[in-house]
Amino acid sequence: MKYVSFLKLICLGFVFALLATSCVKEGPMGPAGADGSDGQDGMDGEDGNVTCLVCHSGTNMEQKQGQFAMSAHSAGAIAVDYAGAQARCAPCHSHEQFVQTMTLGSVAGNITNPSAWKCSTCHGIHKTFEGVDYALRASDPVTANFNSSVTLDMKGNSNLCAVCHQTRTAGPSITNPDSETFRITNTHWGPHHGPQANVLAGVGFEEIPGSVPYPDAGTAAHLTQASCTGCHMGDFNTGQGGHSFIPSLKACNDCHGTSLDDYNYGGKQTQVHGLLVSLRDKLIDLSVVAGSDEEGYHPVPGTYPTLYAQAYFNWIGLEEDRSQGAHNPKYVVALLMNTIEALNNYQAN
Ligand code: HEC
Ligand code: HEC
Ligand code: HEC
Ligand code: HEC
Ligand code: HEC
Ligand code: HEC
Repeated sequence: MKYVSFLKLICLGFVFALLATSCVKEGPMGPAGADGSDGQDGMDGEDGNVTCLVCHSGTNMEQKQGQFAMSAHSAGAIAVDYAGAQARCAPCHSHEQFVQTMTLGSVAGNITNPSAWKCSTCHGIHKTFEGVDYALRASDPVTANFNSSVTLDMKGNSNLCAVCHQTRTAGPSITNPDSETFRITNTHWGPHHGPQANVLAGVGFEEIPGSVPYPDAGTAAHLTQASCTGCHMGDFNTGQGGHSFIPSLKACNDCHGTSLDDYNYGGKQTQVHGLLVSLRDKLIDLSVVAGSDEEGYHPVPGTYPTLYAQAYFNWIGLEEDRSQGAHNPKYVVALLMNTIEALNNYQAN
């Protein structure tokens, strides 16, 4: 019995349910209620196009092409020719050497058809795609070639430059410490042609003791406040800066509050040029250097008092820095004055 009445109840339930859905009719809709108060604004999303267009817009890329055509990098006339093909000269002398080293860690072998710098030498593929992502192949501090326990920190994007623009070899105080004599084995001996990052950081030259104090490494105002990109890639203006890589006089003037029309601020380049000539002539007198302005100068292979080799190392390195002291005036003047002073004292004794 109980069972039957339970079934009946279920059936009744179905009937009511059907009535409720099919037979009850809706009345006309009432008036809309008052609007609720506004919700809080959401955060703005990043506009993909605007971020990309900071760089990929209008003629920006073409302008860079035009500026870059002014740079020695785009010709690679001296650099690529002979050294650019050789695996042992990587990563500094060709597009192929640099890209392979930055992406694979080393070059596969000698390069049959090395080429000069192009956009994709320095710019690879983006990582974050944000406004500050220049897709540079390097921007971290760089291990110094002259001493693997020294790190060259040129600050941000300028570290890219330091991969190539640094010395290749160490001076006698590191390779032959405490030795009274030093053998210059060939006419190419020296720190190599592009020591600019060392000069700016104030490391890697022979700090011969003397009466001019050496500034602490890494403290130069030109390193901490401008660095390579600050001077060489300041806003492109009157044929300088930007991707021409030619030092921007506007950058010097804006920061110094001056209106110079050359880089010889305070006569510093004149002073340094004079010191470089004095030191070279002294090294010629000592028969450590031979040559002339027309043929160029080179060291005379032979065994010398270590001081003479140190003096040559400083002279050729600061000569080939080619900024005539502008990169780091205090460090360069200290090196040159102390080197000349030490040679004079050595000869007098
Ligand atoms: C800060 C400047 C900058 C911003 C912002 C930027 N780019 Fe680039 N992008 C570059 C440069 C420089 C190159 C290299 C140019 C070349 O090789 O001709 C490049 C190259 C590229 C390439 C070609 C890569 C290759 O290896 O061939 C692509 C694709 C690209 N960008 C997409 C984007 C997108 C998408 C955005 C936005 C989400 C963006 N970029 C934002 C500067 C920028
Ligand atoms: C892949 C190595 C490499 C990188 C990276 C590099 N350079 Fe160079 N740079 C060279 C070489 C090699 C030369 C000499 C080119 C020649 O004359 O054939 C040169 C030439 C130059 C010159 C012109 C010298 C002249 O003869 O007129 C300047 C200025 C310069 N580089 C600055 C920079 C700056 C600033 C950076 C970083 C933004 C940079 N370079 C990045 C290797 C490099
Ligand atoms: C650490 C990077 C680096 C390495 C490695 C390197 N070079 Fe260079 N080299 C440079 C830079 C940078 C310049 C350009 C300097 C400038 O224009 O101020 C240069 C310039 C030169 C020049 C032109 C000098 C002149 O003034 O005419 C020759 C030749 C040269 N290098 C040969 C070589 C050879 C050969 C090798 C390999 C055995 C080599 N380099 C390895 C960075 C390097
Ligand atoms: C020798 C290395 C080098 C080469 C070659 C090079 N760039 Fe650059 N580029 C840089 C560096 C370094 C920066 C960042 C500059 C800074 O920090 O002020 C940069 C920044 C940029 C930017 C972003 C800044 C802006 O003003 O929009 C663009 C776009 C760009 N490069 C395009 C190019 C193009 C196009 C080429 C080829 C014509 C090229 N670059 C070749 C080193 C290079
Ligand atoms: C204070 C600004 C400043 C800074 C910072 C700076 N440079 Fe220079 N650089 C100059 C000036 C000025 C010259 C000399 C130009 C002249 O006299 O024609 C020069 C010369 C050079 C030259 C020789 C160019 C030539 O045409 O003879 C190279 C290569 C170079 N700098 C690379 C670098 C690199 C790489 C860095 C970073 C490690 C750097 N510079 C940092 C201002 C600067
Ligand atoms: C971002 C700022 C900045 C830029 C850009 C800059 N300088 Fe300087 N420079 C300084 C500061 C700061 C000092 C003072 C450093 C000190 O007291 O040791 C200085 C010192 C000097 C000195 C040494 C002055 C002396 O009597 O000892 C010379 C020379 C010099 N700068 C030349 C230049 C040239 C040339 C340029 C452009 C190629 C330039 N500077 C670009 C900030 C800058």
